[in-house]
Amino acid sequence: MEADSPLTNLARAALAGVAPYEPGRPIDDVRRELGIEHVIKLASNEGPYPPAPAALEAMAAAAADVRLYPDSGAWHLRDALSDHLAVPAEWILPGNGVDSLIKLLCLSVLDPGDDLAVCWPSFVSWRQGAAMMGAAIAEAELAPDGSFDLDRLREAIGPRTKLAVVVSPNNPTGAAVGRAALDDFLGTLPEHVLPVIDEAYFEYLPEGGHDAVRYAREGRSIVVMRTFSKAYALAGLRVGYMVAPPSLLGVVSRVRNAFDVNAIAQAAAIASLRDADGVLRERLDEVARERVRVAAGLVSQGLEVLPSTANFVLVRFASPAAAQAVNRALLHRGVIVRPAGPFGAPESLRITIGLPSENDELLAQMAGALVDAAASD
Ligand SMILES: Cc1ncc(COP(=O)(O)O)c(C=O)c1O
Repeated sequence: MEADSPLTNLARAALAGVAPYEPGRPIDDVRRELGIEHVIKLASNEGPYPPAPAALEAMAAAAADVRLYPDSGAWHLRDALSDHLAVPAEWILPGNGVDSLIKLLCLSVLDPGDDLAVCWPSFVSWRQGAAMMGAAIAEAELAPDGSFDLDRLREAIGPRTKLAVVVSPNNPTGAAVGRAALDDFLGTLPEHVLPVIDEAYFEYLPEGGHDAVRYAREGRSIVVMRTFSKAYALAGLRVGYMVAPPSLLGVVSRVRNAFDVNAIAQAAAIASLRDADGVLRERLDEVARERVRVAAGLVSQGLEVLPSTANFVLVRFASPAAAQAVNRALLHRGVIVRPAGPFGAPESLRITIGLPSENDELLAQMAGALVDAAASD
């Protein structure tokens, strides 16, 4: 659409500064555009394994009933999550992915002139959520390791700050804040600020990592966001949840869609929580081992890789142009990774950890892409 068309001009003033979300490129897209048959995608931090067999069975069973609307209150899913997390079901609100819950939270609490404090580079939806409401972003720098610098975040908080967001492990960098540091941060927040912990990659944290649901168990005013998209490999279904005091969930419920978590997603999420034989833990451990191997392989090619505790790593190049050249070369070699520009790191590429065979391919193709990119200089 023309930038100055009358329809564009209908947009609310707050949307002037909001760009649409740029997703990782789908495999078919790259196949079509570049005419390459074999393409792998390591761009959107999806889990590399299929969903749990029990989840696949539950999806098939739920499909038979899709003429009916789903349970709007997601009673069974909230009940299963309540058992899983040891928090009352009234403290849990499932949603159409965390991305949607972020928007709903912003829509329900931010007025123009308020602000949302967050470190940057980080997950872009938090900025979009604030911007779409005409709220300001109180931005703080990351710590050198790419994790949230909680002291700086604390300093960014002002009298109009309503939400202080901690993304940990952070996306696109992968580093997490420490448990004690998070405790201290929460202990020093002014009363008018609601802390929000985005734990989309929670399951990947090593033992001893933070578990922000713990604060909800203590009855504290906090919001925790988690998703079934990553560790549970249900990204295509769109299901996540927020844990927060019932009074806040009541406010968020005023703006949510009536049937925002579809029936198949609810069934799959419930089944995914039953990991009776410990397969999920084994797979998470394998991803962690592969992450160490991929990072070492990239470093041995002379690349700068940030420390990560999640299922992806961030590779930093000398300049945005250098990152773009390597990204192009990888695409031509059938490997889709994620340019981190929309997340505030234009000089970097974010690479999702895939299956061992995909990771081998990434490392081999990266070596070639670095040569191609240097030749195209
Ligand atoms: C930090 C972070 N939060 C939230 C999300 C959104 O997850 P979902 O798939 O549940 O919308 C992502 C997805 O990439 C993420 O990286």
